[in-house]
Amino acid sequence: MPGEPYPIIEVQPRWVLEPEAMGSKDKFWYRQPGANAADWLFKHPQANTGQHWAEKIAAEVAAKLSIFHAVVELAVFQNARGSATESFARDGRALFHGNQVLGGKVLGYNANATFRHSSHTVMNIFLGIERTFTTPEAGRKAKVRMAEYVMLDALIGNTDRHHENWGILRKWTGDHWSGSLAPSFDHASSLGRELRDEKRLQFLTDNRVGSYSEKGHGGIYWSQDEKRGPSPLALVRTAAREQGEFFGPALEKLRTVERGVLSEIVDRVPADWMTPVARQFTLALMCYNLQQLQNLLP
Ligand SMILES: Nc1ncnc2c1ncn2[C@@H]1O[C@H](COP(=O)(O)OP(=O)(O)O)[C@@H](O)[C@H]1O
Ligand SMILES: [Mg+2]
Repeated sequence: MPGEPYPIIEVQPRWVLEPEAMGSKDKFWYRQPGANAADWLFKHPQANTGQHWAEKIAAEVAAKLSIFHAVVELAVFQNARGSATESFARDGRALFHGNQVLGGKVLGYNANATFRHSSHTVMNIFLGIERTFTTPEAGRKAKVRMAEYVMLDALIGNTDRHHENWGILRKWTGDHWSGSLAPSFDHASSLGRELRDEKRLQFLTDNRVGSYSEKGHGGIYWSQDEKRGPSPLALVRTAAREQGEFFGPALEKLRTVERGVLSEIVDRVPADWMTPVARQFTLALMCYNLQQLQNLLP
């Protein structure tokens, strides 16, 4: 039934796969016993942030737009709220991160950079993809899929698409690698999750939610000369103009999307998991971004 609160997984200590990780305030893999049970990654949000609900809302938005994404559920572990994501690295497939892809395929790419990494551009990502998926059709498909992830980032204000937050899912078949672009994952740094409610309220009352969005710095660059990454929105504006072959189809997914679809997704977060102000800000942010992205449609 639409409108029902999202379920909450109660993660049991005996499900944890690496017990030494249990004390860490960060994340751990677990598996619920049962036939064909998949591994899941439980993630604690950083203190006083909404990273857990941001992960869930982002995954639901991706689902609504039919953008390939990791499944996320809200979860509780030892009274701590977090999110859990189902592993897509199954059946012999392993995740090969973006920095490994680009390190191997793009001459001079520094796969170890962690900070202000301006070689992590759309064009280098596309080059890495082209050289990995060597038939023209496979290359085109993977580039459109990547463009969809970049468009999703702009819609949800994800500022953390660095080169370890995308990748290729690959499998050794005995004589060659077969693979595809991995589902979109790690959307924790989106939707204004780091803001306190006073700040959210201020942005809302001053009508400055748009300026919050425009001032963000993303993890993907357009030009290697940029000191900091453009906002996810600004990146899509440029990419839509310069790489319309791939970004055009991605943006098409937004043509008929309306505010109501987004508010339904936000409303399903259980009542005490998100304050009314956080809901209002999250929705206002996505509505602003949606409008800006729809303006790019022909
Ligand atoms: N759904 C998933 N399936 C498989 N591997 C995943 C999944 N989600 C995350 N990972 C792996 O775990 C790592 C950490 O997860 P991520 O969500 O990026 O957490 P963090 O916020 O700490 O960066 C990722 O870089 C990736 O290697
Ligand atoms: Mg990550």
